[in-house]
Amino acid sequence: MDSPFRPGFGKNPPFLAGRDTALASVEDGLELGQWPQERGILLTGLRGVGKTVMLNHAEDLARERGWVVVSETATPELFERITGVHLPRILSELDPDNPFRVTSISMAGIGSITVEYPDGRIEDPSFRSMCEEISSLLGARSTPGGILFSVDEVNAGALRTLETFAAEYQHLVRSDFEVAFIGAGVQGEIRDLLTSRSATFLRRCAHVDIPMLTPDQTAQAFQEPITQHGRTVSPAVLDYMVRASQGYPFLVQQIGDIAWRRNPDSPDISLEDAQFAYRRARRTIGGFIIEPSLSGLSPTDRSFLAAMASDDGPSRIEDVRRRLGNVDSGYASMYRQRLLDAGAIRAAGHGKVTITLPYMREYLREHIVAEAASDDTRKDAGFPPPPDL
Ligand SMILES: Nc1ncnc2c1ncn2[C@@H]1O[C@H](COP(=O)(O)OP(=O)(O)OP(=O)(O)O)[C@@H](O)[C@H]1O
Ligand SMILES: [Mg+2]
Repeated sequence: MDSPFRPGFGKNPPFLAGRDTALASVEDGLELGQWPQERGILLTGLRGVGKTVMLNHAEDLARERGWVVVSETATPELFERITGVHLPRILSELDPDNPFRVTSISMAGIGSITVEYPDGRIEDPSFRSMCEEISSLLGARSTPGGILFSVDEVNAGALRTLETFAAEYQHLVRSDFEVAFIGAGVQGEIRDLLTSRSATFLRRCAHVDIPMLTPDQTAQAFQEPITQHGRTVSPAVLDYMVRASQGYPFLVQQIGDIAWRRNPDSPDISLEDAQFAYRRARRTIGGFIIEPSLSGLSPTDRSFLAAMASDDGPSRIEDVRRRLGNVDSGYASMYRQRLLDAGAIRAAGHGKVTITLPYMREYLREHIVAEAASDDTRKDAGFPPPPDL
């Protein structure tokens, strides 16, 4: 039997654990019109925690209720793609008897396109006029829906285009059109973005944190797919997998998948399968999760984390301050706050913090020497950068 698990990114898991509350707020919006102010939701969370999967589910919920969905990733061409590709596509799907051809896209000002009809007529609809047209076509249907704009990977690189989009979008909101926005981004990147003055719209969105799973949710995330697909797992093995994944959705799918495939024809998942999967999954997490997460942080943020890594559990800020070379406490607390905002660490009792991402501590310990050396620390002593491993 094929593995039911979905390792990697953006793939819907066989069992979506622990997201009922977050999805319920989307459902309330779609069914009862109870959207937060500005009709905007911004999902934030660590890398690999399941943000894209949440967007996928929100889009499905919307489609099931007769909404049309604009699903995009935040690139500098975001507004252009919405205006030039998505809205014309939706219009021609909703109104197939009125075919047209997009002949040019112009993004000066508010964004418009030029379309040509078979009878030779030429029009220049804008973002706004197309949304109005879509709304009136949707409103005429037996189950009137709206337009959901879903934007993944919200980041500072797309700020300008998001701003243009937001201005147009807010106009629709103020004019009482049935529209909704749901965006998602990595917590650390969103943090930087929100400090920008022009990110007003994103600041006003309802911010929903997508957290790691609890132990019970994690057990369910493993057990449901295994038993649903005709195999069994003993409580002891399940417990091992829960501990190995630490409630981290990315690892749940990796470990589940590798364990399943090791002996796919055996009726149960053995402890050896789980142990094998854990070792293999631990090797992938460095390149897929930890490195990209660290690379989003500043060098000082990273040294702060590295200074925490020598503790087996929560670190005393006082110790970190000392390890960083007795930096003053204002400096230490500034970096503590930066890392808290990025979600990389969390408070763990008075004067203590701990690293959030599973296995980052171990990764930092293993790589700390190479990292320090490639940090140009030894440059003054005449060393060129170290060779690649
Ligand atoms: N609630 C969940 N229960 C079980 N598995 C999940 C859950 N949410 C996500 N996953 C799994 O976790 C992995 C990562 O999910 P996803 O790609 O949505 O993360 P992400 O937060 O968008 O990551 P990134 O920040 O890198 O874009 C996928 O394998 C997905 O199937
Ligand atoms: Mg994603």
